[in-house]
Amino acid sequence: MEKNISEMISDLKTYLEYLKGLGIVSLSSSEIEHDPPRPSRILTLAEVRKELGDCKRCKLHRTRRTIVFGEGNGKAALIFIGEGPGYDEDVQGRPFVGKAGQLLTKIIQSINLSREEVYIANIIKCRPPQNRNPEPDEIQSCHPFLMKQISVIRPKIICALGTFSAQTLLKTDTKITALRGKVYDLDGIKVIPTYHPAFLLRNPERKREVWEDMKKIAELIGSP
Ligand code: URA
Repeated sequence: MEKNISEMISDLKTYLEYLKGLGIVSLSSSEIEHDPPRPSRILTLAEVRKELGDCKRCKLHRTRRTIVFGEGNGKAALIFIGEGPGYDEDVQGRPFVGKAGQLLTKIIQSINLSREEVYIANIIKCRPPQNRNPEPDEIQSCHPFLMKQISVIRPKIICALGTFSAQTLLKTDTKITALRGKVYDLDGIKVIPTYHPAFLLRNPERKREVWEDMKKIAELIGSP
């Protein structure tokens, strides 16, 4: 299969991001000359899940019931990334299945997509006790796995749901109110921050802004 130079550069960029997700930030010249990167051999989601295993990399493993890895279309053009599992997600092992999840399902359907067509994940994969905010060490332990999921799926767009998701993905501490309404770039993937569905349940008057963000997403992925 012939590839043009820009496709090769894009593949190489994806591969280097994937290595970065693994914590590899430099390559020796011998690796570059004798073992050139093979962009086509990127992990599968099942392999990423296997590597995560019965994760005990942070303290959340002591209180969680289930690891909520993420679910949906492994070739999705659009990924939604929330904060972390709550009670229902911890019990069922699936992301966004409680009240906020039901609202997320409606948000997805508002742009004529289904949950099965997109991918849904979280910044952290284990429920924090009493649904407290994720702590920096927990986010850090989980981050390489989320980045690997993103490199496998290679979506066009990531919709970051809420403060923790947007701030973690965009490496900023700017408030979500200031972040939303704009499109950001994460290594060639467009990132659209919007309000978290749980926030919308408490502040339904903010749904209009989320609708604006969803219209932008629909336009970018060409969904009617
Ligand atoms: N809130 C989140 O951020 N993620 C879930 O999976 C559920 C609720």
